[in-house]
Amino acid sequence: MSNRPTSPETAIPDATKRVHIKSFGCQMNVHDAERMADLLALEGYATTDRVEEADLVILNTCHIREKASEKVYSELGRLRRLKSERAEAGQSTLIAVAGCVAQAEGREIMNRQPAVDLVVGPQSYQNLPGLLADARRRRVVDTEFPAVDKFDALPPPGARRLAAKGPSAFLTVQEGCDKFCSFCVVPFTRGAETSRSATAILAEARIMVEAGIREIMLLGQNVNAYHGEGPEGGTLSLAGLMDALSQIDGLDRIRYATSHPLDMTDDLYAIHRDNPKVMPYLHLPVQSGSNRILKAMNRKHDRDLYRRIIDRMRTARPDIALSSDFIVGFPGETEADFEDTMALVRETGFASAFSFKYSPRPGTKSAEGADDVPEAEKTARLHALQALLLDQQNAFNRSTLGRRADVLFEKAGRHPGQLTGKSPWLQAVHVDLPDGVPAESVLGRIWSVDLLDVTSNSLQGRLVAESQPKREDQAA
Ligand code: SAH
Ligand code: SF4
Ligand code: F3S
Repeated sequence: MSNRPTSPETAIPDATKRVHIKSFGCQMNVHDAERMADLLALEGYATTDRVEEADLVILNTCHIREKASEKVYSELGRLRRLKSERAEAGQSTLIAVAGCVAQAEGREIMNRQPAVDLVVGPQSYQNLPGLLADARRRRVVDTEFPAVDKFDALPPPGARRLAAKGPSAFLTVQEGCDKFCSFCVVPFTRGAETSRSATAILAEARIMVEAGIREIMLLGQNVNAYHGEGPEGGTLSLAGLMDALSQIDGLDRIRYATSHPLDMTDDLYAIHRDNPKVMPYLHLPVQSGSNRILKAMNRKHDRDLYRRIIDRMRTARPDIALSSDFIVGFPGETEADFEDTMALVRETGFASAFSFKYSPRPGTKSAEGADDVPEAEKTARLHALQALLLDQQNAFNRSTLGRRADVLFEKAGRHPGQLTGKSPWLQAVHVDLPDGVPAESVLGRIWSVDLLDVTSNSLQGRLVAESQPKREDQAA
């Protein structure tokens, strides 16, 4: 930690330049964007939501499906026009492409769009100051996978940014993936699976808690494969890491995403049973309910293993909210395979889920074969699956009505006097502030709330009282 740059708060020069960062894709990209902003603050850049006033625009891109990837080029077309308009007014603009498209396509982006000054892959953000200096003189591409942990080389999270953000924040603990599911670009764009050291993660978590963060979402492409160096030597599993984090006073809630069924270790069930700071929520993508398709996807597990994991987790933590990802229309998926997916969903019962049409991606194994499920069939299957998942989401939300639950309040709601927060099961909960209770005594804090009503995808509740902080040794 000693050779880390200073915190943005102790060394911000007068912000003379503006940066606009637009992120696509997953939560890891969102978090990367925050950390790039912290680094650039040290370089004199203030962030702006208004792209037209930005001296530096960073597109933080996603390569996971074709649609996500192609969006980059239409965005770049718009930025090229903006850059020339600003040039006519005597202002220079740097355009940078970061994220997974940058990693996957590198120089090709330069060829396709001459207005791009810099292409930087997700493992090289610590190099941004030097790269930006170079990019003022010549076009630069950096898509190396350096041996250093980028988060250790980046400045610690900016306290001022965290304070402005609300009480819940991301912390990346693991990056990359060695699973090579046959449809997926992540092992290529984010590289091999690596875990950060627990010491660095704990130090970062303490900074976050001091800045007012009460809930941390641990991020990783395969977060439950985490096996980082522990503070006293040896390695810590994800559950071991969460156990260590739960001893930080003031940190009340811990979440994690995304998990893989093969990495569900015994201690994860135990920590969900025993540690009240670990929230009752599990995002565990299954992709398909057909054993034939799971095999073709190289998921390395079958539907039965998935079902057993869920049963075991529900025994450990009966109220756990389950979430998953699904792909429909994978090559060779028949109506019967799809029915297996629908049956798995019916048997399991999910609180929420994401579902996608299969999209062949360059460089992946499954893209070598035909994308043979007709588009209309993919659409029909997606609609059927999403209708079922929506019914389940509503059923889950209704099942929590009548409960008294802890809600972490994040921000003002849409109506005057309304505040919005998250239940332990990651539901959005709205309450009306009673007369005489100032918003400051609720925002950023955990209150117990009676859950009274469901509206489309959120709950309406009534404030009861501020909740007492949980200790890690209290049973849930
Ligand atoms: N690491 C996570 C998620 C990775 S990407 C995991 O192992 O599950 C997020 C989701 O995007 C995946 O779970 C999958 O459902 C979807 N996805 C990935 N590649 C895709 C592709 N080629 N076409 C359609 N959906 C895809
Ligand atoms: Fe992609 Fe599979 Fe790795 Fe998830 S586990 S990131 S889906 S290769
Ligand atoms: Fe997309 Fe890269 Fe995340 S491909 S989903 S931004 S890891």
